[in-house]
Amino acid sequence: ARKKGKTLSERANGRPEETTVEDQNVLTNRQGHPVYDNQNQRTVGARGPATLENYQFLEKISHFDRERIPERVVHARGAVAHGYFEAYGKIGDEPASKYTRAKLFQKEGEKTPVTIRFSTVIGGRDSAETARDPRGFAVKFRTEDGNWDLVGNNIAVFFIRDAIKFPDVIHSLKPDPVTFRQEPNRIFDFMSQTPESMHMLTHLFSPRGIPSDYRHMQGFGVNTYKMVNENGETVLVKYHFQPKAGVKALTQEQANAIQATDLGHATKDLMDAIDRGDYPEWELQVQVMSDDEHPELDFDPLDDTKVWPEDRFPLLPVGRMVLDRNIRDHFNENEQIAFGTGVLVDGLDFSDDKMLVGRTFSYSDTQRYRVGPNYLQLPINQPRVRPATNQRGGQMEYYVDLGEGQSPHTNYEPSTLGGLREADYPTHDEQGPVIEGRLTRKRIPRTNDYAQAADRYKLMMDWERDDLVFNMIDLLGQCDRHIQERMVWHFFLVDDDYGNRVGEGLGVKAADVAHLEPLPKQRLTDEDQRRLSNLG
Ligand code: HEM
Repeated sequence: ARKKGKTLSERANGRPEETTVEDQNVLTNRQGHPVYDNQNQRTVGARGPATLENYQFLEKISHFDRERIPERVVHARGAVAHGYFEAYGKIGDEPASKYTRAKLFQKEGEKTPVTIRFSTVIGGRDSAETARDPRGFAVKFRTEDGNWDLVGNNIAVFFIRDAIKFPDVIHSLKPDPVTFRQEPNRIFDFMSQTPESMHMLTHLFSPRGIPSDYRHMQGFGVNTYKMVNENGETVLVKYHFQPKAGVKALTQEQANAIQATDLGHATKDLMDAIDRGDYPEWELQVQVMSDDEHPELDFDPLDDTKVWPEDRFPLLPVGRMVLDRNIRDHFNENEQIAFGTGVLVDGLDFSDDKMLVGRTFSYSDTQRYRVGPNYLQLPINQPRVRPATNQRGGQMEYYVDLGEGQSPHTNYEPSTLGGLREADYPTHDEQGPVIEGRLTRKRIPRTNDYAQAADRYKLMMDWERDDLVFNMIDLLGQCDRHIQERMVWHFFLVDDDYGNRVGEGLGVKAADVAHLEPLPKQRLTDEDQRRLSNLG
């Protein structure tokens, strides 16, 4: 059995006990040498040349030279807070154990510590928090079975459905490699060739695209995961966080006014709320589906450009999450925190969602580069339980993950000399449906790129639709004519009103786009075909 280690804060403060100087407040260098003069370099004479053996000065400057680590390639700007998740013991009206054996959900009232990082996606580390951009919503649950990361966004769907396209979508949204400006022409060049992005774009350009702050937004796992119960039975799952304080957003005009004076309003709002004891709270809910292909649906349950209709797949409450503690240091707890979609605990699993598999490789890969190969030894990333591994060495390793009773000589397995042994499976190794197929590169059959964007467009309130149309025209107005025309063509395939209104703002009529052929390899539904023939 694994033994519980020290708590995170004990370890974070786990510095050497003894001090080389009597007064703890005396400045030292990292070797423990007292610093007698922090104002003047050591020189030959008061005006003289500096000397190279000036250890204290060189230590100070060379550490400063390395103060920054690479910022995250996406989601660089973020805010972190700590708190807890409290389970209801149930999933909807059923005992949680019906769907999952994950321990954190089983007992009503059981609390699991969490750390959460909210973020914007495209801007750099110091960029404005008023950007029209998805917001990251990444939660680290420190469970008794190790960490579980749920790395989500505030919008329920995504631009693309296959991870192989992620570098492209991000390159189009990031600054132009020459002008280093975010260029609408590049963004819509890519999106106009990517019909599955229409649903996400319809959300992003609506008022939802600029949440008022981090406390008033939803969180979604976006990708489809699985839950596994004690019998090895699996279900497909989508995760939702609903803010108790309600959802609020900014119009572009309101956002511009804030941005004129403040680039970090959302971080400040979060920290201030926690400081005054107004603890932000969300309810965690799940949607559940049997683990199969669901041919009866007009979308694929593994497609992250789709939502699952709530009337057919109701939101089932699982627990609540409260944030009640601010960070003490931005670098240690925000820059160095590392989340990943591969970080699951027993009873929670991946699905074959083609985005999710790609993400699962990408997070730990980037973190080994961004933070270093031993990023999981940092206090902010350590699990609550003590890891016992045979991993050794690497830059910045600062302790050995020795198991209780493990011989320090035995960093391999199997062994008869006091090494670690494998854990017993909680139940058994086989779970879920049998999958068969030929190796291939194919898009999924049920792409259905427009129907849910249409539902979303129709569901909006008038002012939200007005804002969406205004924002689209604003950016598309800066694009080349052929890109405008292709985008209007897509909007007509979503909804006539959408096509007409954005088209009107750009001077593009239905007749102007009627000649456009579907994109290469694009799959159209019967409804799409009908709409297309109406265009002419
Ligand atoms: C951060 C990759 C899709 C949510 C990141 C990072 C990478 C990445 C490399 C930086 C991580 C770090 O430096 O620690 C990818 C890939 C994707 C993808 C390859 C698609 C295949 C998504 C989707 C969501 C999402 C669909 C929303 C559900 C996030 C969040 C963060 C993040 C919230 C910030 C985590 C933090 O606060 O540290 N992603 N991502 N990503 N991604 Fe993704």
